[in-house]
Amino acid sequence: MKYLIVILILIFTLKNCFSNEKLYFPYIIDYNNFTAFKPASIEVGDAIKGKVILKSRKTNCLSCHNAPLPEERFQGNFGPSLLGLGSRYSKEEIRIRLINAKIINPDSIMPSYFKTLDYPRTQKKYLGKTILEVEEVEHLVEYLYSLK
Ligand code: HEC
Repeated sequence: MKYLIVILILIFTLKNCFSNEKLYFPYIIDYNNFTAFKPASIEVGDAIKGKVILKSRKTNCLSCHNAPLPEERFQGNFGPSLLGLGSRYSKEEIRIRLINAKIINPDSIMPSYFKTLDYPRTQKKYLGKTILEVEEVEHLVEYLYSLK
């Protein structure tokens, strides 16, 4: 009986080690208020670089969203327009949506840009990686927040 309790405690501790707290490391997620904080060690992003990332094929944000970029001819309307985003949301609220929009809306079709790719059929070369690097997430946060 004693052993059983010890084993149960062990399993419980191990489970906690791999819980959500580690999932979005180094970010700190507040699941009640739907915000994501960056630790002070991570540098503030650069809005100009963020704009380039938003327009890139790597993220494809413009296939679903509309942004105030008249030079971009093809813009989508699957998702809400990104215009005025900085007046609607704080940086922390923008960040959580980039990290994983499914935390807020489990049915979201928006890709989770900072969730480790570990789906059963993920190709080996992508396994354990995220679509964006921390620095890229931060550049995007700054650009989107500048859209007032
Ligand atoms: C496949 C389509 C798709 C792509 C690609 C996509 N999004 Fe989204 N996005 C959505 C949808 C749909 C929503 C509406 C909320 C939801 O369903 O999660 C959304 C919501 C958002 C929101 C919240 C807007 C609001 O007013 O509440 C932001 C910010 C956002 N997306 C930014 C981005 C950025 C930046 C990228 C690229 C890095 C991106 N999205 C890529 C579909 C997409």
